[in-house]
Amino acid sequence: MPKRIRVAVFPVAGLGTRFLPATKAMPKEMLTIVDRPVIQYAVDEAREAGIEHFVFVTGRNKSVIEDHFDRQLELEWTLESRGKTDALETLRRELPIAGQTSFTRQQEPLGLGHAVWCARNLVGNEPFALLLPDMVFKSEPGVLKQMVGAYEETGNNVIAVEEVAPENVSSYGVVGRGQGPDSGFEVTSMVEKPKREDAPSNLIISGRYILRPEIFALLSEHTKGAGGEIQITDAMQTLLRNQGFTGVKYEGRSFDCGSKSGFLAANVAFALDRPDISGQFLSELKGILPA
Ligand code: UTP
Repeated sequence: MPKRIRVAVFPVAGLGTRFLPATKAMPKEMLTIVDRPVIQYAVDEAREAGIEHFVFVTGRNKSVIEDHFDRQLELEWTLESRGKTDALETLRRELPIAGQTSFTRQQEPLGLGHAVWCARNLVGNEPFALLLPDMVFKSEPGVLKQMVGAYEETGNNVIAVEEVAPENVSSYGVVGRGQGPDSGFEVTSMVEKPKREDAPSNLIISGRYILRPEIFALLSEHTKGAGGEIQITDAMQTLLRNQGFTGVKYEGRSFDCGSKSGFLAANVAFALDRPDISGQFLSELKGILPA
């Protein structure tokens, strides 16, 4: 049995330029889907998959993320004294236990690979999960939990993938598919933002990874890739020469909340799933949509 996955890394140091001016003073990870910040969805998914240590790689202007995962005693007392027990219960349920969170800073946004490298001392010498909070999923069970199953079977590095239209592959990391079912197939190659004609498939990396700690030594070389950034895909491509990678074509639907349309679609989808507001929301939506 491979070592259990206990630690998850959440890189949240990006600039979020696609959401300016909203993200000038507020991190994009704190934008809300219905009434919960984007980052909360990834943390809940990690917790469901058995994660016990949540490591955030933050940057300047991101301290509100740290506050979000802390208690707010004055607020709790006020809610208690006003009898707002539902709200209080929600706050408490979503909070990690004291000591389960760690924060480190990526001093410059040099790329996702660099952000992950910044977490090396907090992760140590064990396999870990990497969740890009921009990617929010509707899936049962959660995507990371689906991946943990594939990891436990093989001890391999694991990457969640999904299909996109072939003309869109050049915006993403793309994997080559070898033998095996959707729940766990051999990854034969990886490439970041390939030209359509160079892409090994139309299976893109969807923002969830389980990685063995040897990735850190490769990231420490600080090799720049696509867009002049230190890319995690490049380090994984090198690691693939010595270690197995399993792809999981997860069951569920993704929303790319790093883009405006994906973020808005996530709000609609999650609102329609909420029994407390879905009826009224649907009737308002019908009033807006062209007949
Ligand atoms: P994105 O490519 O979406 O970049 O990063 P971004 O800067 O956050 O957003 P835009 O493109 O300017 O709107 C994907 C993930 O990697 C993190 C981001 O926070 C996001 O979770 N990231 C990216 C870092 O933590 N550091 C980096 O240097 C780059």
